[in-house]
Amino acid sequence: MQTENRSQRIAVTGATGRVGSHLVEILAQRGHDVVPIARSQGVDVVSGEGLDQALVGVETIIDAATGPSPDQQEATAFFIASAQNLQRGGAAAGVKRIVVVSIIGIDKFHGGYNAAKVAQEQTLLEGPLPVRIVRAAQFHEFVEPLVGWTIKDGVAHVPEMRTQLVAAGVVAETLADAAEEPEIENGSITEVAGPQEERLADAAAALFASRGDSLEIREGRGAPLAQPDDPDAAAYAEGAALPNAGAKLAGPSFEEWLAVAKG
Ligand SMILES: NC(=O)c1ccc[n+]([C@@H]2O[C@H](COP(=O)([O-])OP(=O)(O)OC[C@H]3O[C@@H](n4cnc5c(N)ncnc54)[C@H](OP(=O)(O)O)[C@@H]3O)[C@@H](O)[C@H]2O)c1
Repeated sequence: MQTENRSQRIAVTGATGRVGSHLVEILAQRGHDVVPIARSQGVDVVSGEGLDQALVGVETIIDAATGPSPDQQEATAFFIASAQNLQRGGAAAGVKRIVVVSIIGIDKFHGGYNAAKVAQEQTLLEGPLPVRIVRAAQFHEFVEPLVGWTIKDGVAHVPEMRTQLVAAGVVAETLADAAEEPEIENGSITEVAGPQEERLADAAAALFASRGDSLEIREGRGAPLAQPDDPDAAAYAEGAALPNAGAKLAGPSFEEWLAVAKG
């Protein structure tokens, strides 16, 4: 993929988040003028507060924000409002393109947060500005909260899930590359994932071992990603979240990342 080094003003939504914080750093290192967008920076992509001022002179928006709730309805409301505000505000400010981070396999699931991400992609694509979609696997940094949600009475009830976990920093590099592409093909999708397939239960075991934590792990189809009889529980187990041929694959693996994160 061809990229160019010309410096631009780039707004990053979700600038303080798992992927957004890496992105802000990488873009600044590459010589871009970065506008960080988050409520803690005084800009709200849902209410629109501060957005028009933040987008002045911006050429590219990289959308890496997400609301606090993984609930389908709440997340859908967040993403539809943010997508409409970014398209409307971006077009009014003369922005040229939007790059969005999405999730591998979202259209193979039937509901939940994945459905909200489908609504986000669709709403962005309905707007006037061209949109470049980067679908990522689950982040290494996301394993801890994901597994944490499943702990009850000292047992982690980890869903049966095949995934190709990736470092948020690698996803941020890929988003920065997409923002530097000289031409954006509207609606084009690329995928980015880690170097190898993993089971979420194995990643949870490695995480607990790295902390000397002896929590029991029980793997089974179901919560928190989908109810046990939900077709999405089977989809997670059968590999719907794995990358397709042609995806960018890059290390570190989860264990390598964990060793560095642990220091
Ligand atoms: N986590 C994963 O494994 C994963 C995998 C693939 C794709 N993704 C996608 O990557 C994106 C970022 O995920 P993440 O895990 O990095 O998120 P995160 O760590 O939860 O960070 C969310 C960011 O959004 C900001 N935010 C929340 N509400 C906002 C609002 N109303 N207006 C402006 N900013 C707001 C937060 O800052 P404030 O609270 O200060 O507003 C924060 O900077 C999401 O779209 C997600 O679907 C995530």
